[in-house]
Amino acid sequence: MLIRHTRPSDVKPSEITPRAVFADRRRFLATAAVAGATAVLSPLLAGPAVAGRKLDGITKSPFSTDEELTDYKSVTTYNNFYEFGAGKDDPVENSADFEPRPWTVAVEGEVAKPGVYDLDDLIRPHALEERIYRMRCVEAWSMVIPWVGVPLGDVIKRLEPTSKARFVAFDTLYDPKRMPGQQRAILDWPYREGLRMDEAMHPLTILAVGLYGEELPNQNGAPIRLVVPWKYGFKGIKSIVRISFQEAMPPTSWNIATPHEYGFYANVNPNVDHPRWSQARERRIGEFFKRETLMFNGYGEEVAHLYTGMDLAKFY
Ligand code: MTE
Repeated sequence: MLIRHTRPSDVKPSEITPRAVFADRRRFLATAAVAGATAVLSPLLAGPAVAGRKLDGITKSPFSTDEELTDYKSVTTYNNFYEFGAGKDDPVENSADFEPRPWTVAVEGEVAKPGVYDLDDLIRPHALEERIYRMRCVEAWSMVIPWVGVPLGDVIKRLEPTSKARFVAFDTLYDPKRMPGQQRAILDWPYREGLRMDEAMHPLTILAVGLYGEELPNQNGAPIRLVVPWKYGFKGIKSIVRISFQEAMPPTSWNIATPHEYGFYANVNPNVDHPRWSQARERRIGEFFKRETLMFNGYGEEVAHLYTGMDLAKFY
């Protein structure tokens, strides 16, 4: 697997200053005291891949981890977004011309307030929060990403799902002209994902519209994507155009493609191997040594109760 190391010599001086804006000074000083200045300087020196528009009025969330952030460059250049190609550096290269505005999200199904919502109407009633989450990809690498978003549960409450709504389904935009990867049948497009209603309502689940204090770069799922930090990254569907409340469990893209490899739940679980590799350990991008993967990606205290009585080897 390709691991990127950013050398300070790769970075133009003009790219250094804006990154400093995003570093939480207190976190920086605290981490520096422990880790030594060189290690924590790398996030500040990593230049932006694409300059995004700064988001205002962001509050800090108590749900954030204080672990060292993955540098901006890795977060925005080492991506999975098959709509723009299957290679890790394809999304940043092939999504540069994607125009994520104007953007609407269709709300459908078992809900009192269906309709086609302009993105701002869906998000703006809620205060933007910075949520620094550990993210674990099914491919056994991980990152720590400062997302900006709103709790999905707050949005759902406003939409008023009916008592029949047991699941929420999400669709990515289907537009092969704007998303050239969709011209090839790698997946059954559009990309689809879903959550059980209690997972969707859990306070850790967010709809992200930004990262590192900026609007989401295209390659990270502009303008709106799902982030569920205790699940493998593929649950985090990007560029969402449809949210549908349903009684039945919705089909999901990777489960349709290879059901024995990717289940609906996709909870991070070091005890259940992927059929082709172990999930016991992971490589944190930017680090050399592998680390142990934690049950529910370290969010067990918050979410384990959602799965009481379920055999997590069966419901993978
Ligand atoms: N959403 C869509 N629409 N298409 C994709 O290919 N890839 C998923 C998820 N969401 C994907 C997607 C996978 S496998 C991962 S690991 C994460 O996005 C990666 O998010 P990131 O590139 O922002 O780190």
